Amino acid sequence: MRPTPRTPSPRRYLMCPPTHFSVTYSINPWMDPTKPVDLPLALAQWEDLRDRYRSLGHTVELLDPHPALPDMVFAANGATVVDGRVLGAKFAYPERADEAAVHLAWFRGNGWAEEDLREPDHVNEGEGDFAVTSSWILAGRGFRSSPLSHDEAQEFFGRPVIGLELVDPRYYHLDTALCVLDDARDEVMYYPAAFSPGSRAVLARLFPDALLATEEDAAALGLNAVSDGRHVLFPQTAAGLFEPLRRRGFEPIGMDLSELLKGGGSVKCCTQELRP
Ligand code: ARG
Repeated sequence: MRPTPRTPSPRRYLMCPPTHFSVTYSINPWMDPTKPVDLPLALAQWEDLRDRYRSLGHTVELLDPHPALPDMVFAANGATVVDGRVLGAKFAYPERADEAAVHLAWFRGNGWAEEDLREPDHVNEGEGDFAVTSSWILAGRGFRSSPLSHDEAQEFFGRPVIGLELVDPRYYHLDTALCVLDDARDEVMYYPAAFSPGSRAVLARLFPDALLATEEDAAALGLNAVSDGRHVLFPQTAAGLFEPLRRRGFEPIGMDLSELLKGGGSVKCCTQELRP
């Protein structure tokens, strides 16, 4: 079988440099405040990711980091943008609560109209728990985002939202367990054991041809990946993903974000997509 030809489409991303990144509290099992973070290395790794996006032809917008918000580098959590409309975030833990306003201020200052912005009623951690394909918005719950935020997103975006229950604390956000590989074709990869049996059945029904990740690749946070429809960027230690991605016609690109992994995030967590 010949692989499907894959065409990348230019994307616009919002990122925040890890200038003040540190692990001083623990709100997911990856975070161990006793483990030191190498900040210059974190910055260099993040710059690599930013430069890689730019060299692939994507636009990267930057958010100013804030000294009191060490997790701001995980920009994916700050909002969800679909059809040019912005659903703000509302964080589950007080440590990150103030990030939401910084994101909304960025949108207000960068040309978004007030009628296209929504300050949410319910807890949602942005693209940490919302993944977008052409047919659906997939929405995680169980650890961070409230199921009520799924209804809120459906009403606001006018797109069908599929709720998915996460059951393993290591995969506390949807984007740690599932990645959209080709949004136009509704193609995804995911780690089944991160989901409840019912949600697994829903995923199997919606995505019968999905790439299923192994426990090993999931544990390397390999699903915390970003695809432009052709290039798939993900943590390089998820070595088992290279071959299956290539077989499908994708171009896998391994990245080293080892320092940010200490905060429980990788490629996707650092990347919010601004969808026109
Ligand atoms: N330390 C952050 C937290 O636990 C990591 C967020 C990772 N972001 C993501 N999109 N999964 O909230």
